[in-house]
Amino acid sequence: MNTLTTGTDAGRAFAIGPHLVAGGVVLAPMAGVTDAPFRSLCRAFGAGLTVGEMASSSAHLAASEMTRRRMTGDADDPLAAVQLLGADPAQMARAATAAVALGAKIVDINFGCPARVVCGKACGSALMREPALAGEIMRAVAHALEGTGVPMTVKMRTGWDETSKNAVGLALLAEQAGAAAVTVHGRTRAQRFTGGVNRADIAAVVRAVSIPVIANGDIDSPAAALAMIRETGAAGIMIGRAARGNPWLIARARAVLAGRDDPGEPDARERLAVVRRHLAQHMAYWMAQGREERHAAASFRAHLRAYLQPVLAQAARDGCGEQRLERAAQILARLVRDETQAAAGEDLEQFFLCIGQDKLTQTVDNKDSRENAPARFRAVEEILQPGVNINDAFSALVVRRVESYMRDLEGVRGLPVYEMIVTACERPLLTWAMDKCGRNQKAAAQLLGINRNTLRKKLRLHGLLNGEF
Ligand SMILES: Cc1cc2nc3c(=O)[nH]c(=O)nc-3n(C[C@H](O)[C@H](O)[C@H](O)COP(=O)(O)O)c2cc1C
Repeated sequence: MNTLTTGTDAGRAFAIGPHLVAGGVVLAPMAGVTDAPFRSLCRAFGAGLTVGEMASSSAHLAASEMTRRRMTGDADDPLAAVQLLGADPAQMARAATAAVALGAKIVDINFGCPARVVCGKACGSALMREPALAGEIMRAVAHALEGTGVPMTVKMRTGWDETSKNAVGLALLAEQAGAAAVTVHGRTRAQRFTGGVNRADIAAVVRAVSIPVIANGDIDSPAAALAMIRETGAAGIMIGRAARGNPWLIARARAVLAGRDDPGEPDARERLAVVRRHLAQHMAYWMAQGREERHAAASFRAHLRAYLQPVLAQAARDGCGEQRLERAAQILARLVRDETQAAAGEDLEQFFLCIGQDKLTQTVDNKDSRENAPARFRAVEEILQPGVNINDAFSALVVRRVESYMRDLEGVRGLPVYEMIVTACERPLLTWAMDKCGRNQKAAAQLLGINRNTLRKKLRLHGLLNGEF
């Protein structure tokens, strides 16, 4: 069975303004977790909508590189949703305008964050205690978005605490202010992440408003996804923590919501392939953002644990020998310390070999076996492949080199930087092609896909003609 979806589950689609959220499954915003590569992965697994990590609207934070990154809509996402956090209506309106300029296609307001003080003021779920101010914020943001075609959405909890639940009132305010959808995490702020999710409270919001409601909280299985929809009548569901290390859950939830069979857990081969792809995408993205390789690798550790710890636990339940388990645990520990993608890649394979899933994993990179692989695995490979193609790695490398080059220039201006960089890339490329083709210009021109005259001109320009190199 194929865990990946075709995007045609119309039965579960719902609209957010002009956008259609296919399949009804939304990836929750999780600061520090749902970065661009993870969001992209989850969309490949069928998330109809993914929401960016909360971005502060406060002026001093808005100037930071992190906030700018979070305010930037994913270029490959036609529904790129950016989430804003703040308590000042004018600042929130400015941030909404900035987010749209940076590619946001949906602007979400955070009334759910339980942190006591974020960005210097009580905001997030604290605003559920101040509905008048929350209303002002929503109206200011809606006003800023007028004429842009970008809808506003709002994410909230059920209330501040058990004695002051007001999600229904706040959702009605949101609807009046022009929100195109609301998400309700079925807990109060006082509960933070403990205690049960109250589906009846979400259902009350669904009954009260006529805009789509997305139900959120503790959806960790296809059965929980179904129960959430059945008990709340919500238009869609939002999955947060359980998607970490388990993007398959999104595809599984989407399947059962569409009335299809649950495609089940991934096998080891598929798991390994996806961890590798995610690792490659993660590294390419963060290194393109200027992170050193070891820092980019370090920020993948939490994902790795989330992917592999359940595999270890399952192997123990399946009766995997103690020595093997211990060795796998050691590899896992080493994996999360690994500082480079290459080291992590090797250890990953070892990890799966160690817990006895070698038959499934040892041939992952073998073309013949890939051709014989089940259709489901091939689908994963094919769909994820475009996101990790050589261009990503090459772009990341070029960006890193250019950045270090610019640093070396130490602010010197007026140099023909473009030409210098292009020349610096061109020379080794020409040298390589000529070497590869035994200095035969015709063959080198063919290899590079340029005509022979162009090649000659370039060789001359670089002093590479007539054996000068
Ligand atoms: C690490 C972490 C970071 C989160 N960051 C955000 C955030 O940036 N914005 C937001 O609205 N909610 C945030 N949340 C809350 C989630 O979006 C979600 O509402 C909550 O985790 C409940 O859903 P779940 O039970 O499926 O995880 C965060 C939750 C976690 C665990």
